[in-house]
Amino acid sequence: MYMNFWYAAELSENLTDRPIKVRMLGFDFVLFRDSSGVAHCLSNICVHRGASLAHGKVKGDCIECPYHGWQFKGEDGTCTKIPSLGPDSKAPARAKIDAYPTEERYGLIFAFLGDLPEAERPPIMAVEEWGKENWAITTQGSVWKANYQRSIENTLDPAHTEFVHPSMGYQGDRDDYDVPDLEVVDKDWGTGVMTTFVSPDLPHEKMKGLKGEGQMEAGAGNHGTSATWTFLHFSPHAWAHQYGFNTPVDEKNLRRFAIQARNFRTDPDMNDIINERNAAVSEQDRVVIERLEPALTPLSPTEEVMVKSDAVVVRFREYLKEWEKRGWRIDSAKVEALREEKAFAIPSPARRRSKGWAIESAPTTSPGLTTQTAAE
Ligand code: FES
Ligand SMILES: [Fe+2]
Repeated sequence: MYMNFWYAAELSENLTDRPIKVRMLGFDFVLFRDSSGVAHCLSNICVHRGASLAHGKVKGDCIECPYHGWQFKGEDGTCTKIPSLGPDSKAPARAKIDAYPTEERYGLIFAFLGDLPEAERPPIMAVEEWGKENWAITTQGSVWKANYQRSIENTLDPAHTEFVHPSMGYQGDRDDYDVPDLEVVDKDWGTGVMTTFVSPDLPHEKMKGLKGEGQMEAGAGNHGTSATWTFLHFSPHAWAHQYGFNTPVDEKNLRRFAIQARNFRTDPDMNDIINERNAAVSEQDRVVIERLEPALTPLSPTEEVMVKSDAVVVRFREYLKEWEKRGWRIDSAKVEALREEKAFAIPSPARRRSKGWAIESAPTTSPGLTTQTAAE
């Protein structure tokens, strides 16, 4: 799992006036709204004695720890109150919690889990159709007991559709089946491919007739470590664009937030049908991906056999290598091995500006340019 990307932490509508605990990248965070309704994301571990901040209370713009009542500001994680020191006391400088940049967009709360300054941060994947006329949008969430990389690679793999998705009209028994040569195109922070191929009509009666001559254009790509796009152009005019925000809970679990935009049959009455169809397709993927062995992508490419239809997957892995070299890959094995005796936090941007953090930065698999080197 990789720091220094934006991750979808929760549906906006699920964060009300109570703090909630969200696990991402193997770490716990507290999400809460301040007195103005602005969402904040802090590391969940109180620096005093390690209590779970998400089990505390929101007090104005702060989160109050349930153990001894210390209060930390949502905006920057600084400690504003230590009740046992009495009124008008000043908290020690080390009494601070990592606070992560947070943004609400597309009905989701995103948190930037890393220490990059604003100008260097990879952006949130754009959902271009959001709020545009003639597009209808639906959002769905799901939970998979699977590794996020396995899930992303499934989205980037055009050869599975024929065999995994009978609900899309595929049966896995066409004699003329092949995957055309893929022309992989890099975009900012990712890669992807669009291809044209012959495809059967959709079996659902309300979806019939969308495809012209049975030709359709489709493709998929990634944006960063955990976001994907899948474009299905059933005809020159009927397009479905799906955006997947796959947030790793830990190495073996993920939450998927899927936003689907369509410019055909935009009547809200169609939303349930579209959601039902997408949930069925996602479920078909889930059962295959949850059974993959090993659960994580093998460390060495020689432990798999790759063919030309795996071109996008291969390119995606090159990106991951690059991000690992920058020092963004968390050493999850080390975090797990030490979990009982040591807490870590994903470094927040403030660690590049100030020293004196009680909780150590998460270890990474490569030294790169992490907080430790920048601030020390
Ligand atoms: S553990 Fe949080 S205030 Fe003591
Ligand atoms: Fe699939």
